[in-house]
Amino acid sequence: MFIYFNGKIVSSEECVVSPLDHGFLYGHGLFETMRSYKGRVFRLVDHMKRMETSAGYLGWPVLPDREVFAEAVNSVLVTNNLPDASVRLTVSRGIGAARPDAASCGQPTIAVYASPLPKPLPAAGWSLTTVSLRRNLSSPLVKIKSANYLDNMLARAEAKKRGAHEAIMLNTDGLVAEGSMSNIFIVSNGRLITPDGESGILLGITRNAVILLAQAAGITVEERKVNPEELAEADEIFLTSSIMEVIPVTVLDGRPVGHAPVPGETTLMLAQSYRKLAE
Ligand code: PDD
Repeated sequence: MFIYFNGKIVSSEECVVSPLDHGFLYGHGLFETMRSYKGRVFRLVDHMKRMETSAGYLGWPVLPDREVFAEAVNSVLVTNNLPDASVRLTVSRGIGAARPDAASCGQPTIAVYASPLPKPLPAAGWSLTTVSLRRNLSSPLVKIKSANYLDNMLARAEAKKRGAHEAIMLNTDGLVAEGSMSNIFIVSNGRLITPDGESGILLGITRNAVILLAQAAGITVEERKVNPEELAEADEIFLTSSIMEVIPVTVLDGRPVGHAPVPGETTLMLAQSYRKLAE
C-alpha cells in the first residue's frame, strides 16, 4: 500500500505522524472521502471546495493548491493500481505546541490514501434507526467534514448495537438532519424532499448531484425542514454518500418503508442515473 504523505509517495510503514500533530492532540483536521471511477475521482473539485470552506470555518491559513491534491490523488490511484477506489484525503493543522494554540502549528500534515471499495449493498437496501444523539444547530462543526468525527461514531455505534445499517440523527430542534455518514432523502407524493443546509447537515457532494439529476428528470425537489413524522410516513427513503452512492432504505425504526423489501421506483431510477453520471 502506497500513500501520499507530505509531498511524497511512500509505503504505509514509512508514514509517521508526530504526537505533537494537532490532528492527533485535538482532532484539529479535515478530511474528504471520495470515489474514483476508472481512475478519475468524481467531483474532485467540489471536494476541494468543501475542504477550503471547512478550512475557512476553522480559520486556517490557505490550503495547498488544488493541483497538489489532484496530483496526489492521481499518483495514489496509479501506484496502487486501484482505478475504482475509495480515496481518503486527510489534512491536519500540523505539528505545534502541546496546548490548543493553532498559531503554534507549522505546515499542515497531508495524507492521501486509496482503498478497495466496500462490498455492494444488500439488494433489500439498508435499515435505519433514529438515534439519541442530536446534531447541534449552534455548532459550525456539523457543516464541515472535520477529523473530529466522534459524534458520528457514537451515532453509528448506537445504530450498530440496535442491528441497523445506519443511524439517522435529528437536530437540536427535533427535526431530521442526516445519517452518521450520509445524507437523507424522502419521496412523498412524487416529490423529493431533503433537509436543507440549515438543518445541521454536511452538504454532501452526492446529495447535490442527486438533486440536479432529479430536477433534470422533472421531479420537484424540496430542500427544507423535515419532521420525523414525515420521515416515518414517506413512500420511499434513501441515503447518499460518495462511497455508497444512492442507498435504498427499506426499514426505518423496525418498520418497513414503502413496498419493502423492494426499494422504491424513484430511488432505483436515481441510483441508476447517478451511477451513469459518475462512471
Ligand atoms: N461520509 N453526512 C455526513 C456526516 C458524512 O460523513 C458524509 C460523507 C455525508 C455525505 O457526503 P458526500 O456525499 O459528500 O460523500 C453526509 C463519507 C463518505 C465518509 O463516511 O467518509
